Amino acid sequence: MEWRHRGLISLEGWTREELTFFLEQTDYMDELIDRPIKKAPALRGKVVLNCFFENSTRTRSSFELAGKILSADVINWSASGSSASKGETLRDTVWTLEAMGADGIVIRHGSVGVPEYLEKKLKRASIFNAGDGAHGHPTQALLDLHSARKKLGNLEGAKMAIVGDVLHSRVARSDIQAFSKMGARVVLSGPSTLMPEDTEALGAEYIPDPCEAVRGAQILYFLRIQQERMDDGLIPSVDEYHRRWGASEKLIALAEKGAVVMHPGPINRGVEIASSVADGPGSLILGQVRSGVAVRMALLYLCLGGARQ
Ligand code: CP
Repeated sequence: MEWRHRGLISLEGWTREELTFFLEQTDYMDELIDRPIKKAPALRGKVVLNCFFENSTRTRSSFELAGKILSADVINWSASGSSASKGETLRDTVWTLEAMGADGIVIRHGSVGVPEYLEKKLKRASIFNAGDGAHGHPTQALLDLHSARKKLGNLEGAKMAIVGDVLHSRVARSDIQAFSKMGARVVLSGPSTLMPEDTEALGAEYIPDPCEAVRGAQILYFLRIQQERMDDGLIPSVDEYHRRWGASEKLIALAEKGAVVMHPGPINRGVEIASSVADGPGSLILGQVRSGVAVRMALLYLCLGGARQ
């Protein structure tokens, strides 16, 4: 397949064939990560810039590692300590960084639409969305797909229950797109105060009772309670939330035997997930983190021309 995407703003325009092809490329990257010497020259001479206006552990580190394994030069930039604190605008900041020769710019920002805006403004660099407000986190969805597919195989007809704070979740939006395209049925559960009004428009059914949502599912996806994006009063209390919607052994026992438990991280233990579940036999959480490196390697490789060299 000839790869037609220069970067990644959203998975909206990706076809199922492209997702499948992408996941096959990610399998190769997994093999590369397993080698004693994790290094390939595919992106030698390319410059990748990690540009984070919000905090991150997993996404930033795995983009950095992905670029370095493929021999790109990777520069990390964060808003704190930069000239953004002197009033430099987002556009001027990114133009400046592009002028230094960046081929790819990985951007995380608290405002919806920033990656798309930059893609229109920049002349040559590819843009990779590492999370924009509550809108999208497409590389998280790709790594979630890769992790689930490795464990469960074909996802056609699988039931995926996403439980928690869907309202503030960019991960949920991107996951609904990605898993639906691969043939999974996605249901949502959580307090009605943490559900967007347009769950059907998102492509998912809202089932208020978490037991019903989880029953018979093969994929259980628990979302972080995003207290930093929340006004007061959206959940009764953290304890009450955990009792009703948190991932407990009792709740996950309702899922199909062999179901996987996923979470994008960082996890709030004892809030949206009990430690016994997060660290339990069905947990894919650390597998997701590992998939993050392989997925971002495949993305940089395909979009920055590694495949053509
Ligand atoms: N899942 C995720 O985006 O984690 P970070 O915020 O640590 O990057």
